[in-house]
Amino acid sequence: MTLPSTPLIALGSLLGLGAAGLALYLLLPRKYQSANSVANAYDEWTEDGILEFYWGEHIHLGHYGSPPRRKDFLVAKADFVHEMVRWGGLDRLPPGTTVLDVGCGIGGSSRILARDYGFQVTGITISPQQVARASQLTPPDVSAQFAVDDAMALSFPDASFDVVWSIEAGPHMPDKAVFARELLRVLKPGGILVVADWNQRDDRQVPLNAWEQPVMRQLLDQWAHPAFASIEGFAEQLEATGLAAGRVVTADWTSETLPSWLDSIWQGVARPAGLVRFGWSGLLKSLREVPTLLLMRLAFGAGLCRFGMFRAVRSTPTQSSTVALSTASSNQ
Ligand SMILES: C[S@@+](CC[C@H](N)C(=O)[O-])C[C@H]1O[C@@H](n2cnc3c(N)ncnc32)[C@H](O)[C@@H]1O
Repeated sequence: MTLPSTPLIALGSLLGLGAAGLALYLLLPRKYQSANSVANAYDEWTEDGILEFYWGEHIHLGHYGSPPRRKDFLVAKADFVHEMVRWGGLDRLPPGTTVLDVGCGIGGSSRILARDYGFQVTGITISPQQVARASQLTPPDVSAQFAVDDAMALSFPDASFDVVWSIEAGPHMPDKAVFARELLRVLKPGGILVVADWNQRDDRQVPLNAWEQPVMRQLLDQWAHPAFASIEGFAEQLEATGLAAGRVVTADWTSETLPSWLDSIWQGVARPAGLVRFGWSGLLKSLREVPTLLLMRLAFGAGLCRFGMFRAVRSTPTQSSTVALSTASSNQ
């Protein structure tokens, strides 16, 4: 009898791990149940350090330019923050501008906003572990502080911030209308709201078809998402608060961010140091995410999902009462 060679053992182990990763993916989805289920998922992702190792300090997609070109994954993520600053017109705001970063992760955006633009940033997240890690990563001379808070019921008084900023937190919100209202409520009159989010196609126009429905179910259930809004739907919800002055401006950055999905899988191959650092259990945890990353790439590539950008300016008290009056008269 001949003994199997080392490459065969390695291949067998990899296949075994792949099968175990697929079993975890299928049998233990991270379904949204409450804000706690989201907090637990991010606490776990933060504690083991794997997500930070591969995705860096930004838990969001990268911006690869328009048209997209090859870029380092981590550079594209930092570039995303600067692109969003420019798109929102925040680069024209003076140092000292107060910013609330809603769903701040481990503070990647908050630190850039504080360090590169001189803003005074408060980052909030539902995950206590993220607050601890964000605080650890932020040097004392960077004006960014972090707290646990729920975006569905923010603890700040009305009109607290010059800017409200949020990246990829919206899909975790169970009620998008409440989320829209909270974002605008804490903004000062004349202040700017900038949001970047994963969205789905507006199914009021074209309902999801036979393959899109199960794919959408997976995208929701694997990463603790109760629902995706559509770009059109969330813009309407922001306008319906009566707190936005004029129309909400939107943009679609699907093509600029699309390379991120395959790039994030490629990180696992291109950076084998992760295997040494996190061992077989780390590899198993990473493999478990691969089907969702592939489905995300499929959904964004095929038009089922879209990457939405939103910009709104908070109305002044006079503008709000005009909106309330015109709504009342149009309802009569
Ligand atoms: C995909 S991560 C994005 C993190 C960060 N914006 C970034 O770009 O690195 C989503 C973030 O939303 C936060 N989040 C989810 N539900 C939340 C809630 N109800 N209140 C506050 N934060 C929440 C998560 O804790 C996490 O920090």
